[in-house]
Amino acid sequence: MKNIETERLILREWTLKDVPDQVEGLGNFETAKNLTVPFPYTEENSVAYITKHLKNTPASYAFAVQLKGTNKVIGGTSLDFRDGQYNGGIWLNEAYTGKGYGTEVWIARAKFAFEVLKEKEIVCGYFEFNNRSKHMQEKIGHKTVGKQTNFCPALNKEVAEVLTTLKKEDFYAAMQSPKLKPVYDKIKV
Ligand SMILES: CC(C)(COP(=O)(O)OP(=O)(O)OC[C@H]1O[C@@H](n2cnc3c(N)ncnc32)[C@H](O)[C@@H]1OP(=O)(O)O)[C@@H](O)C(=O)NCCC(=O)NCCS
Repeated sequence: MKNIETERLILREWTLKDVPDQVEGLGNFETAKNLTVPFPYTEENSVAYITKHLKNTPASYAFAVQLKGTNKVIGGTSLDFRDGQYNGGIWLNEAYTGKGYGTEVWIARAKFAFEVLKEKEIVCGYFEFNNRSKHMQEKIGHKTVGKQTNFCPALNKEVAEVLTTLKKEDFYAAMQSPKLKPVYDKIKV
């Protein structure tokens, strides 16, 4: 399928060449403690995930996030069709966090969901202590809709997860902000 392009990133299908970069990113406790991925995240885990997600389908979109001008995969994001809606998440290699890449990916993923998949609403969640994800989600228009518990392998315990929804109209309202509009405008889905 066609890649998604942002100002600084390419979101593309995974290949088995990405195994070392995925293990580097998800093998880090500081990243994995926010996710439900296996921990420690091994080469076998990565090969299994990528083998299952080599080709995107309407049931499951998985994107490797590659830094433009390099072959470096600095993260991943997904949209999985579950219970009638797209769910999924995002992670970035810790060394690349705090530079706006997460926001760029999160806006690109939502733009793809609304403008290519023609969804009206997508859903997500974040662990209660994950204030950075909370901030990123709220910034682009996500609203809290509930709470559940989920098992976190890195923490080896059940944690409280806040459930969120992103409605198309709330996303477009958020994209009017002077900080986010230029990011949105540069994204090609
Ligand atoms: C969450 C994640 C994707 C965000 O990506 P990022 O590139 O670090 O985020 P950005 O730089 O685009 O933006 C982070 C924003 O959060 C803010 N922020 C950072 N730490 C914060 C904190 N502890 N509390 C609240 N806001 C915080 C930043 O100031 C920035 O806000 P701004 O854009 O309004 O200036 C990334 O940090 C990550 O992969 N973390 C580990 C895995 C994870 O948590 N995934 C999400 C699971 S729900």
